[in-house]
Amino acid sequence: MNNILELRGLRKEFGGLVAVDDIDLNIEEGEIRGLIGPNGSGKTTLFGLISGFLHPSKGEIIWKGKNITGKPVHSIVKQGVVRTFQLTTLLNDMTVLQNVVIGCHLHNEKGFLMQLFGTAGKHEKDKLVEEKALGLLKTMGIESVKNELAGALPHGYQRLLNIVISLACEPKLLLLDEPSTGMNPVETQDLMDRIKMLRDEMGVTPIVVEHDMKAVMGTCEKITVLDFGKKIAEGSPEEISKNEKVIEAYLGR
Ligand SMILES: Nc1ncnc2c1ncn2[C@@H]1O[C@H](COP(=O)(O)OP(=O)(O)OP(=O)(O)O)[C@@H](O)[C@H]1O
Ligand SMILES: [Mg+2]
Repeated sequence: MNNILELRGLRKEFGGLVAVDDIDLNIEEGEIRGLIGPNGSGKTTLFGLISGFLHPSKGEIIWKGKNITGKPVHSIVKQGVVRTFQLTTLLNDMTVLQNVVIGCHLHNEKGFLMQLFGTAGKHEKDKLVEEKALGLLKTMGIESVKNELAGALPHGYQRLLNIVISLACEPKLLLLDEPSTGMNPVETQDLMDRIKMLRDEMGVTPIVVEHDMKAVMGTCEKITVLDFGKKIAEGSPEEISKNEKVIEAYLGR
């Protein structure tokens, strides 16, 4: 077993509310993990903790054997741990391509792209960044809308664009928070296929928060279930779909 991420007794309190309650979690490199649970069970908070947007009240986050607890977001992103947001955050008045280009620049100011391009002139660099951005749009299947204004896109496309922008950070671990929101079943299946492709072809290890059970069960190799901030179950899709605690957590509300 090769764990790239280990959470040890991770806890987050907001005032008196325990949003994430002493979670232990191991993620193996290259697996597709599903993270599910009823509304308010702590999924987004857990993503916030792993990605450094929130600081834990207790516990440790070990990334590739290194303790990254409390490190700033930019340093965590640089190490390849990247989240997407449950709500779409785009530059609405810019085109799809411009959104990705800006994403590439923001994340790669001193990063791999600039090293890669070495002493190339500004014009050359811009061209290379644009090529990179186009490649990423292609990966998620939305290169055909590259010249549309981001704000005018259907919601499903905006979700895909969000993922493309996060890919500009070259993630090794990608935390996807309800990526299929606003998509129909066909689009959702296409998204899931692309998430698999990110794993198979780009070496990304995805963790997916998803309310669409069919999508989760069909895509994830292992599923972790939260309820009231606690991990109540973990296992294969088959095990999870038969788990009594899980059924109760969902039916009980
Ligand atoms: N910044 C915050 N301040 C106070 N309470 C918060 C904060 N963020 C989340 N919470 C609370 O923590 C709990 C877990 O919220 P979280 O958003 O992590 O749940 P979730 O599983 O992502 O839910 P959903 O499926 O609705 O997205 C909820 O009770 C929520 O109200
Ligand atoms: Mg959430």
